[in-house]
Amino acid sequence: MRRYHVTTFGCQMNAHDSERIKGLLEELGLGEAPSADDADVVVFNTCTIREKPDTKLAAYLGEAAARKREHPDRVIAVGGCYAEAQRERIFELYPAVDVAFGPGSIAHLGEWLGAGGHGVTRGRFGLDDRAFAAELPVHNERAFQAWVQVSMGCNSKCSYCIVPSVRGREQSRRPGEILAEVHRLAEQGVKELTLLGQNVNSWGRDLLPEIATEFGELLRACDAVEGIERIRFTSPHPKDFREPVIAAIAECDAVCEHVHLPLQSGSSRLLKAMRRTYTRERYLMLVEKMRAAIPDVAFGTDIIVGFPGETETDFLETLEMVEEVGYDSAFTFVYSPRAGTEAAAMPDQVPHEVKIGRMERLVELTQRIAGERNAARVGRVEQVLVEGPSRTDPSVLRGRTRRNTTVNFTGSARAGELVDVTIDGSTSTTLRGRQESLVMGGL
Ligand code: SAH
Ligand code: SF4
Ligand code: F3S
Repeated sequence: MRRYHVTTFGCQMNAHDSERIKGLLEELGLGEAPSADDADVVVFNTCTIREKPDTKLAAYLGEAAARKREHPDRVIAVGGCYAEAQRERIFELYPAVDVAFGPGSIAHLGEWLGAGGHGVTRGRFGLDDRAFAAELPVHNERAFQAWVQVSMGCNSKCSYCIVPSVRGREQSRRPGEILAEVHRLAEQGVKELTLLGQNVNSWGRDLLPEIATEFGELLRACDAVEGIERIRFTSPHPKDFREPVIAAIAECDAVCEHVHLPLQSGSSRLLKAMRRTYTRERYLMLVEKMRAAIPDVAFGTDIIVGFPGETETDFLETLEMVEEVGYDSAFTFVYSPRAGTEAAAMPDQVPHEVKIGRMERLVELTQRIAGERNAARVGRVEQVLVEGPSRTDPSVLRGRTRRNTTVNFTGSARAGELVDVTIDGSTSTTLRGRQESLVMGGL
């Protein structure tokens, strides 16, 4: 049997696309190889959000090309956002690549690879013939957790971001198709769903006037499916948290009290240059509104430092905002110019050393605050979905709270179970605890 291996870069949408790529390859009769070294068909599902994943891919492709020289019948396929961004140049840049395909054309991979991955035709697909990967067969590695794609593409114009040009215009999946998949997953024993879209909470707008619905209604419909205990969603945009969405998060039992609210910058001046369409004040009002409506809500965020023109004053405003909101977790990024985006052509690019210095200060602050937020959980009982043994200590279990914090705990539960855990320790990224005994839980 010919064997494949998929290496995935980037966001959860890409990870989900990889499940579909694997499902498709298995349908073609290929089996999964433990590593790229052992595979006949080597797939890289790429990301190009910053320069780093591009550089990493170059190293991986170098190794793959060397192996191909020893075994010329090996097929190298490059999919995802980098393949789309470099669609005109990819075969020149990397002559060892046989097949390139964009994120919207996974469905065609089979035609290019041929039965069993033999008879490969050198070529590529792009955004022109987009289809939802969600309709393809799936290779699901997690029995009780699943991603569900609700939309593809993004209509925002954030000036630093490459995503709209590689993932195309936003297109919502029809509610009937989404719910059919959710029902199927629930029947298979899935307990936790993560709804996925580049701008997940603007879902539904492009279905009007034919289907009058919005993201809040979708949350309610998923919440009503029996067996689904937890619902998460990513990535939302602050501009699309209208009242009905907030109400749905507050009222649906399964929707978790965790909201990812990408800030990007605390300076209204920079937010405008970034084309984020909200100000510092509007963002803070949204945070207050959610805190009032959703008891005990946890906030995560994304922040960019060193956007063109960022002054020390702008940066201090970002630090202030981090203190004011009190994020439970934060992803922090050094601004990376992406060819073809508006911000890459802006004057006043921030010098590298300044970016690095600000990044260090920001990380120190976000970690301190997340550490304080986690320390405040000590003594509480949290509901945890067990994911398996801890990554660092196999004698301990690992799971996540509804507020999306990882907990390492002593206990005897199986993966996929929901258990109560008493929290007795914390760091800036994890909690520690012990499983409540069944007797105690029953009292
Ligand atoms: N659609 C999602 C994810 C976008 S990418 C969203 O809008 O939230 C994830 C994060 O990467 C962004 O939120 C942003 O903080 C960061 N990012 C995007 N482009 C970047 C760039 N050119 N340089 C540095 N960080 C970037
Ligand atoms: Fe990029 Fe902005 Fe779209 Fe997010 S909302 S994918 S940051 S353009
Ligand atoms: Fe990267 Fe594409 Fe996701 S650029 S972050 S894999 S949408």
